[in-house]
Amino acid sequence: MPAATLIRRTGPLLLCLLLAAFSAAMSAAAPAQAQKAPAAYEPSSGQPGKDVVWVPTPQVVVDKMLDMARVRPSDFVMDLGSGDGRTVITAAKRGARALGVEYNPDMVELSRRNAEKEGVAAKASFIKADLFETDFSGASVITMFLLPDINLKLRPKILALKPGTRIVSNSFNMADWQADETATLSNDAGCTTSWCTALLWIVPARIAGIHRIPQGELTLKQEFQILSGTLRTEGKIFALEGKVRGEDITFNAGGRKYIGRMNGKRLELR
Ligand SMILES: C[S@@+](CC[C@H](N)C(=O)[O-])C[C@H]1O[C@@H](n2cnc3c(N)ncnc32)[C@H](O)[C@@H]1O
Repeated sequence: MPAATLIRRTGPLLLCLLLAAFSAAMSAAAPAQAQKAPAAYEPSSGQPGKDVVWVPTPQVVVDKMLDMARVRPSDFVMDLGSGDGRTVITAAKRGARALGVEYNPDMVELSRRNAEKEGVAAKASFIKADLFETDFSGASVITMFLLPDINLKLRPKILALKPGTRIVSNSFNMADWQADETATLSNDAGCTTSWCTALLWIVPARIAGIHRIPQGELTLKQEFQILSGTLRTEGKIFALEGKVRGEDITFNAGGRKYIGRMNGKRLELR
């Protein structure tokens, strides 16, 4: 029977009953509607972290850091203190496998969501861990935006990494281990914060000592990537100055430039 006919026949009483039932149904549904989804976690720049506060690296600096480290698909990149995951995600977009180490579990979850949104969750992963307790010896590139004293604390572990491992830091140095390259981005280049300098180090092969080579005898002292010492050749001894970049060596001695490479424990000059 149509509703109008029903109402006409049963009169206003039924109408009142229907309205009451409708209103009861609505008020029963109301609490369910009021239960909104929990607000998404939103970090704020400067918020405390275990050993360092969270301040994000500007995206143009992330890009520059990865350019300087020449990140490519064969790389395994680790970001120590990975914040919202931007460096790991950017590395993954370049085809590299990348892992963020972050102490704050909310930031880890946020990074995972960000990686998912950016479509790189298969290459970008995140672990909730203390960077001081984490083994990063498998990385070919390490990125960080920490503090000078933390960099210094990590330095012995970094120097023990495989020669050629690239380390890039936003703004903070490694005390007397000079960077191999430094680049500062200007306002015009899109960096509008105080954190616009990217620094690159390449872990040097450990090469100090005496090397007997077909050309003579090389006695090398090494301060990080800086070489000094002597080359004894053709009955003469020449002072030398040079550099080691990963496993590649260059030095000048007796007015000549020498180029070589550490092949395992053997030094080969070209
Ligand atoms: C300055 S932020 C850099 C974030 C990110 N790497 C970037 O460049 O945008 C430092 C990050 O390190 C994290 N952190 C601080 N101490 C840590 C520790 N001991 N282990 C792991 N992460 C830590 C903080 O929670 C913060 O997210």
